[in-house]
Amino acid sequence: MDAIEALTTRASPAGLVAPAPDSAALDRMLRAAMRAPDHGRLRPWHFIVVDGAARAALGDVLAGALRVRDPDLTEAALAKERAKPMRAPLLVIVAARLREHRGVPAIEQIIAAGAAAQNILVAAHALGFGGFWRTGAAAYDERVKHALGLRAVDAIVGFLYLGTPAGATAPLASSDAASHVSHWTGTVRDAGETA
Ligand SMILES: Cc1cc2nc3c(=O)[nH]c(=O)nc-3n(C[C@H](O)[C@H](O)[C@H](O)COP(=O)(O)O)c2cc1C
Repeated sequence: MDAIEALTTRASPAGLVAPAPDSAALDRMLRAAMRAPDHGRLRPWHFIVVDGAARAALGDVLAGALRVRDPDLTEAALAKERAKPMRAPLLVIVAARLREHRGVPAIEQIIAAGAAAQNILVAAHALGFGGFWRTGAAAYDERVKHALGLRAVDAIVGFLYLGTPAGATAPLASSDAASHVSHWTGTVRDAGETA
């Protein structure tokens, strides 16, 4: 699959099953991630690979953190949270390990990690695998970050679920970019004018 085809046909599969990307495929995906644009070459990203039994341990962490956030939740709700990492044979949690930098604010470091995450998803697709991106409150939960070896100031930009696509793939959403594009012709808007 060429790059443009991979970029224009990537979609989140309905489900993911084994086999997961093997170590050679994962290595290629992570090398693609490393090619994300990155202001200042800070390499702010960090990739936490979770597979096998560690997924159940991650589920315990997610459910434990959810219980603290909302002590009134039912066991069923906690069980649902606990089961989330089992939705795919492999997860890559993409984080930004933020650092103070005069010229590169935190948002740019987070964007760079997001671009790395997108490269992982597109590379997975190009290699015949599939993946989907999730966040939710767990991504912003300090207990979850701590359990994963991150600091409270770091950002989890995505839980990437990876595996082999299963089930019918939804038709691709429209790729018509026209309504998202404007051409600025040089007419400068007055400061008081609203957008
Ligand atoms: C930063 C980020 C966080 C996301 N978090 C969630 C999420 O928690 N739950 C969800 O259903 N979709 C989430 N999505 C969107 C899905 O991953 C997916 O892109 C969306 O459902 C559109 O489907 P597609 O990837 O097939 O175009 C997130 C996307 C991004 C970029």
